[in-house]
Amino acid sequence: MSEAALRLKRDDDALTQSLLITGASQLLTLRGGAPRRGNSLSKLGIAKDGAVLIREGRIAAVGTRAQVEARKDAKRAEKMDVGGRVVLPGFVDPHTHLIHAASRAEEYELKIQGASYEEVARKEGGILDSVKKLRAASSEALKSRARAALEEFASCGTTTVEAKSGYGLDFTSELKILGLQRELNGEQPLEIVSTFLGAHTVPAEFRGKFNGPERYIALLLGQMLPEVVNEGLAEFCDVFCDRGAFTREQSRRILSEGKQHGLVPRVHAEQLSRTGATQLAVELGAASCDHLEQVNAADIRALGKSRTVATLLPGCDFHLGWKQYAPARKLIEGGAVVALATDYNPGTSPTVSMPMILSLACAQLRMTPAEAIAAATINAAYALRREKKVGSLETGKQADLAVFEVEDYREIPYYFGMHRCWMTVKSGEIIYMRD
Ligand code: NIG
Ligand code: FE
Repeated sequence: MSEAALRLKRDDDALTQSLLITGASQLLTLRGGAPRRGNSLSKLGIAKDGAVLIREGRIAAVGTRAQVEARKDAKRAEKMDVGGRVVLPGFVDPHTHLIHAASRAEEYELKIQGASYEEVARKEGGILDSVKKLRAASSEALKSRARAALEEFASCGTTTVEAKSGYGLDFTSELKILGLQRELNGEQPLEIVSTFLGAHTVPAEFRGKFNGPERYIALLLGQMLPEVVNEGLAEFCDVFCDRGAFTREQSRRILSEGKQHGLVPRVHAEQLSRTGATQLAVELGAASCDHLEQVNAADIRALGKSRTVATLLPGCDFHLGWKQYAPARKLIEGGAVVALATDYNPGTSPTVSMPMILSLACAQLRMTPAEAIAAATINAAYALRREKKVGSLETGKQADLAVFEVEDYREIPYYFGMHRCWMTVKSGEIIYMRD
């Protein structure tokens, strides 16, 4: 075959991998860069009667049907008309505790009857209960539970998830969790972004002993962290900086050491009490600080001036029956970069559903539907340092998108507890389709 003929054949093969999606009543591009603050959070970049051309897993063109169909390469692509549904970037979920062994339904019942999160934790329930269960579980069992959850994430329109260790809390188990995350990355379509959360809480065997927490931190910094880094098992390092977990000074040491080893900090901050973790996150240049129910005005000011993302997790407050949600409006008005996440975990937020989180963001955090969508896509991608790759539908980006069975994007949070995701596409592949 001549060189020209070979090139043509290669072009042909590539074109068979192209897909033209048309018929979007609204196509939310989220174009215009990241991070989004203030008014720019509600700019969705909507194309009416929108279309997107996907080629070899990336977006080749996006715009109105007329614009995209006019392209020569669009003519030979496989075609799909989505029948007036809404198309948007796949959700990026920037905070989950993906790998755990079992639910904590017993504890849920106690909490409903009035036991506080901390009371439950003190009785070796809470995180320690999940640790006990995880240590006893086989890798296969953990993996198959996580795989099932990932399928459900995809069925809700999510295409990228962050995942933390933190229910192992000993050398073997923490490394096992991160190792399973790596394996899962190659075995199913969603991208998993790994965070080392060895500092989720002090494990039972170090409690009530002389210098127990400090001895655990020594193990974490001396043995676990170097191995996580050597094996390239995580990009981020997280600490639960709160009453009953780690102090601000302990968190500073752990995150600084992680940073020296190349792990970008992120922090569980101001969930149960105000500890100053937000200011610490800003000071250390953390990618995000998450929860923020108890932030004060100075914390909001600091976030407004920083690139550290304020990741809000309203699923926790909802599940725990708390009345105090994070002050999203103040954060947005103060110029903070706000993102949303499920915080999928067995203790405070057993959900994989970003659409449900959007409903809570609107009803409880008083975010508009447009703000909530930008917080769950482009700003969430920014929180994971992936805003150049995912989080918006723009030429050259990865073709990650979700199609919802609605005519107007506001209906995505408007319907709650209902399943409206119709199709999910990851890197150009259809990974979920209703019916
Ligand atoms: O993000 N706050 C700490 N960590 C989790 C909950 C962990 C658990 O209760 O198992 C959270 O809410
Ligand atoms: Fe969490």
